[in-house]
Amino acid sequence: MRVLISEEKIQAKVQELAQTINRDYGNRNDLEDNPVLLVGLLKGSFVFLADLVRHLTIPVEIDFMAATSYVGTQSTGNLIILKNLNESVHDRHVLIVEDIIDTGLTLYEIRERLLLESPASFEICTLLDKPVKRHSAVPVKYVGYTIGDEFVVGYGIDYNEQYRSLPYVGVVEGAVEGAEGSDRE
Ligand code: XMP
Ligand code: MG
Repeated sequence: MRVLISEEKIQAKVQELAQTINRDYGNRNDLEDNPVLLVGLLKGSFVFLADLVRHLTIPVEIDFMAATSYVGTQSTGNLIILKNLNESVHDRHVLIVEDIIDTGLTLYEIRERLLLESPASFEICTLLDKPVKRHSAVPVKYVGYTIGDEFVVGYGIDYNEQYRSLPYVGVVEGAVEGAEGSDRE
């Protein structure tokens, strides 16, 4: 395992992201009545969300979605929702919390779906951004680290369901992306 982003660097970045989010949402006067709805995308985002939320000082609620995407014969993808949100996001301040954005397909489709419900606001926060293979453009407001085309694990992110518990982000030497590696969630 090669360490790509150390535990210290991740923790510093999570704090920095939280400060920015606190500042951006902090001057809204409707949050006491309408807390920000943090939407964690399972499974990968569970560690990031848990750390992030402990640095947030704004009122928040938390929900989770699990989705899996696959690319069919067309360039548009298909999204299967494995677990939906408990309630509608209508009039809610939605902040998606994601571990890593690769092609952008998953988030593109989730965004399209949630925007149909007319949220009060909609933003995306991702710890890692891997823009090399992006083919579905999604506006991402909060990005932790931008990385190259490497298959990473740790800090919630898996390879065959392994390595999620690592406190750092690393690269498994010899792992081949796409070969049964991640279940894209
Ligand atoms: P898309 O391509 O839709 O996919 O943006 C995002 C999801 O794909 C998974 N993914 C990875 N999983 N190491 C992983 O273990 C990686 O380097 C990687 N890149 C993408 C991940 O589940 C993410 O949510
Ligand atoms: Mg994910």
